[in-house]
Amino acid sequence: MTAQSPDQVYPIGMSTQEMVDTCKNHTIYTWSAGNGVNPLPIAHAEGCYIYTPEGQKILDFNAQLMSVLIGHQHPTVIAAMKKQIDELIFVYPQTATAVRARLAKLLAEVVPGMTSFFFTLGGAEANENAIKMARQFTGRQKILSRYRSYHGGTNLTMMLTGDPRRWSSEPGAPGIIRVFDPSPYNFSFGQTDEEIVDNYMVYLEETIQYENPSAIAAMIVETVTGTNGLLIPPKNWFPRLRKLLDKYGILLICDEVMAGMGRTGKMMAYEHFDVIPDITTMAKGLTSSYFPLGAIGVRQEIHDFFQKNTFYGGLTYNSHPVGLATAESVIHVMQDQGMIENASKMQHVMRGHMDRLQAKHPSFAEGRCIGLFGMIDIRKNSKAVGRSRGEAIAPYNGSHPKMNELSAFLRKEGLFTFVRWSSFTCNPPICITPEQLAEGFDIIDRGLDITDQAFEG
Ligand SMILES: Cc1ncc(COP(=O)(O)O)c(C=O)c1O
Repeated sequence: MTAQSPDQVYPIGMSTQEMVDTCKNHTIYTWSAGNGVNPLPIAHAEGCYIYTPEGQKILDFNAQLMSVLIGHQHPTVIAAMKKQIDELIFVYPQTATAVRARLAKLLAEVVPGMTSFFFTLGGAEANENAIKMARQFTGRQKILSRYRSYHGGTNLTMMLTGDPRRWSSEPGAPGIIRVFDPSPYNFSFGQTDEEIVDNYMVYLEETIQYENPSAIAAMIVETVTGTNGLLIPPKNWFPRLRKLLDKYGILLICDEVMAGMGRTGKMMAYEHFDVIPDITTMAKGLTSSYFPLGAIGVRQEIHDFFQKNTFYGGLTYNSHPVGLATAESVIHVMQDQGMIENASKMQHVMRGHMDRLQAKHPSFAEGRCIGLFGMIDIRKNSKAVGRSRGEAIAPYNGSHPKMNELSAFLRKEGLFTFVRWSSFTCNPPICITPEQLAEGFDIIDRGLDITDQAFEG
């Protein structure tokens, strides 16, 4: 990677203001009313940094949408994409291509327990098709999902989603049973992991009974919950869940769209938890977002089922050669450059920074991280609620002026992250160095002086 001159300007063929205004006037932004959007003008990106047209260098502490895992503009991947474009850009899904064969074989090697793959264009489509597969395979219709989750923006995946992004799409597709998470928001059924898991399994089994066990096809879970709080499951939760679902013939689907592909320091997050799902879904990091691609991985029995039975699903861009070539190259880059090992090593560096800032800033409630998947919660006081160290500065689905001020400060100081409700993310590309992490946490350290002003003691 070449070093950037700090005062370098990146020409965009129009003024920054014209670019921003035209984007706002002629495009619709996601999850927001356009008038309230303040889009970040970007002209260029490289490694762990993004650059404004004026050359402001911004450390990407969210890998854009938690997805540019190998860093921006990696030359090896760009070369592989160009090669595939020169060779073969597109063929329809009922074909065999070398790149399809190579990637499927590679995924079967690196995604534990999964032997066969179906390719989509992103995470929502992967989850939609995973549910179709589970329903066809089991002959059952109902699906269990959790409140603190996000599974995509399409009709069905909105209903799988627990968080408030679901509300405007309701009533939506039927057949979804939403259940609590092991540790409900700001409340805990018990103090120790063991007690929480014991109680949870009683609760879940009772719910399954009420819903008719023989009508439930699958339970879908984010292996480590992402935007809804970076929630790492309690110890032994997954093996106990697997056992309970097996008892009733209910499949386990691990949504690894955000947590997978090296983010947590292992290729798949479920490798941390002593469990193999029946189906797993991937997207985002699969191509490091260099090209739209999602994938569903299934166990051998499910593959075998669809050898004898028609899979009622299809997409024009299923197995798009350019997407597949991108994923293949991204996985090789991760392997060759030890990036997943780096995510595991850097967890300890991130942990150290979080602990240091917690000791220094009264508004710092808690920092969680697994690999380079991290989040910091801000509190307004030290009144312990359930397991938490204090009341959240903003209510669920709400905001607080000091969080808005923090967000503006981080952006001005050159740190890109997502600030939502009472939390903000620490999800940089997994190639980040200790020096770059220190740079990010130095800006956060100064930013937390702002939220400290709202701490009530
Ligand atoms: C856990 C999870 N599942 C599914 C999705 C949906 O993926 P996509 O936006 O590629 O459709 C997301 C996106 O943020 C996600 O985080």
